[in-house]
Amino acid sequence: MAPELRFAPGRAPRLPIWSAPMAGGPSSTALLAAVGAAGGLGLVPAGYLSADAFAAKLDELEAASDAPWGANLFLPGPPTADPEGVAAHAAALAPLAAEHGVELGEPRWEDDAIDAKVAVLLGHEPAAVTFAFACPSSELVGRLREGTGAVVVATATTPAEAAEATAAGVDALVLQGAEAGGHRGAFVDDRAFPGGGELVPLLELLRGARAASPLPLLAAGGLMDGAGVRQALDAGASGVQLGTALLCTPEAGTSDTHRRAILDRRYAGTTVTRGFTGRPARGLANPLALAYPDAPSAYPEVHHLTRPLRAAAAAQGDPDAVHLWAGEGWRDATEEPAADLIARIAREAGLA
Ligand SMILES: Cc1cc2nc3c(=O)[nH]c(=O)nc-3n(C[C@H](O)[C@H](O)[C@H](O)COP(=O)(O)O)c2cc1C
Repeated sequence: MAPELRFAPGRAPRLPIWSAPMAGGPSSTALLAAVGAAGGLGLVPAGYLSADAFAAKLDELEAASDAPWGANLFLPGPPTADPEGVAAHAAALAPLAAEHGVELGEPRWEDDAIDAKVAVLLGHEPAAVTFAFACPSSELVGRLREGTGAVVVATATTPAEAAEATAAGVDALVLQGAEAGGHRGAFVDDRAFPGGGELVPLLELLRGARAASPLPLLAAGGLMDGAGVRQALDAGASGVQLGTALLCTPEAGTSDTHRRAILDRRYAGTTVTRGFTGRPARGLANPLALAYPDAPSAYPEVHHLTRPLRAAAAAQGDPDAVHLWAGEGWRDATEEPAADLIARIAREAGLA
């Protein structure tokens, strides 16, 4: 039997299905409310938002839905050790930016306002708080657990990270398999690996993490239907997180450019690249994703550098220079309403 997640009273979702936090638009309030109404747990992504915008998003969700919800915080690493690599990437991208009528942005470092966002959360009652990009300190884990009553969850991509997060005192782990769309959650972006670390397939990661940690495990990466969810639960997961499966639902805030590229099968597959943001992320293998296999490890510097280019390309309906995050299951994305999709997957997985 998989260990149970121990939510605060009244905050447990009916189903062990969480919507993955998807920063940058897809996780709209409408999507999170629909996931909550269907019995799942919607995760509010704090990434890229100011603390005030994050607070406003929580207020909006609480006004739209009585269901429990969770939140996800970015923990960016230190400033890049490779400013020369960033300068070279900027030089390589400048002509493409000019073609789109914009200049590249300032490649600045910032900490995603993590302290201010933690302070925002302390005024709320999330069911869960999860992290991307680093292992939270024991101090931060304790502060959030005591201050909010949330289940505190780290994202691990390898068994070694699962062990490290367990030692830091978290309550559960999201295991992000190699298949997952979006940024890799690896604690440190290791240049020796194109994916920032070893890319461990989900089922193998579940086995390895179970040997490394007694905590409840949530499975993420490539889960698109009930059969996949059932397989993850049977392999020891206490719950699952769906990202790409929800990207093309009508409630998602996914841009039309992103949605159409997935649904129209515009590109042949997915790839992991640092080219857009300076952190390895899986997305559709469009020209920009493929062009810079040696892009520097520099997040969020490269994110800020390429932002105007990506925004201009999206506005111009040119998907070739937009980050089109998607997991390996992207071909199975549907346009079903989110509540129908959650209900169908729960039914297929024998959960409802
Ligand atoms: C568009 C998109 C945005 C994402 N943004 C975040 C994020 O803000 N924080 C985070 O922890 N993970 C983020 N992820 C990764 C997801 O949490 C999750 O690991 C992934 O979606 C699971 O794989 P799947 O997309 O194949 O379901 C994102 C994924 C996608 C597709």
